Amino acid sequence: MPNHYAVIGHPIAHSKSPLIHAAFARQTGQDLEYGRLLGALDDFAGEVRRFFANGGCGLNITVPFKEQAWALADERSARAELAGAVNTLIRLDGERLRGDNTDGVGLVRDLVENHGFDFNGRRVLLLGAGGAARGVLQPLLASGLRCLVIANRTTAKAHALAALGAPLGPVSGCGLDDLAAERFDLIINATSAGLADAVPTLPSDCLAPDGWTYDMLYGDQPTPFCRWGHEHGAARVLDGLGMLVEQAAEAFWLWRGVRPETAPVIQALRQSMG
Ligand code: ATR
Repeated sequence: MPNHYAVIGHPIAHSKSPLIHAAFARQTGQDLEYGRLLGALDDFAGEVRRFFANGGCGLNITVPFKEQAWALADERSARAELAGAVNTLIRLDGERLRGDNTDGVGLVRDLVENHGFDFNGRRVLLLGAGGAARGVLQPLLASGLRCLVIANRTTAKAHALAALGAPLGPVSGCGLDDLAAERFDLIINATSAGLADAVPTLPSDCLAPDGWTYDMLYGDQPTPFCRWGHEHGAARVLDGLGMLVEQAAEAFWLWRGVRPETAPVIQALRQSMG
């Protein structure tokens, strides 16, 4: 399987990663194949070993295997280390695997490069303290922001995540109920509430007058948190489709040493979603 890559998850049929990487390969003239692998819930490590033993070059990892991928990597990037999760495995010389996490850099690049958000001096609210929030913590803290507040329904988890990030930048944790007196320039939703058609309960005025909202989820229709952004007068309302393509572009670069153009791929995906 020379030049063979795949995304592994469970479920996996919905994954857009094969479409995205095929578009990157066409655009950059790279000769590669990129497939989907339905990982067995009880044998993730075995699946990964077989993929690489058969000559696979790199894997993307999605739900629910990112923590297991972290554990089986032989070495890890600093951002993957803090994330406690790996979404990209790179085959090194011999049998060794390097684990990286491109989710956070994908989020920050989408905001900065595709939409012109300037993190410098900004107050940013990160909603959620689960795997999705932890996965983007290091690149957010390296973005130049003035302060990051992590707010979670379960307050103790927000404090724990903030403690993890504290050596890297200005971050604090609190409960959703503690946000009453605060205003933010950017609110990022990293909760899974949208999957149940819900939004975290927030004070109606926690968005600064020219503040932006960003939902790490995306969909054919505006997500519940995107609807919240519109209803509360956000200057820009963004969903996670750009982050999806940017995290893939970073993985492509790690594997192939070539940076694809993301804008045409984001646009094509958006159109295909109606
Ligand atoms: P993921 O890997 O997607 O982050 P997770 O680790 O299960 O999934 O974390 C889900 C996050 O969404 C948590 O922060 C969760 O809050 P709790 O820690 O209090 O459970 C948050 N979440 C899920 N549904 C929510 C809702 N309806 N309102 C607010 N927060 C919600």
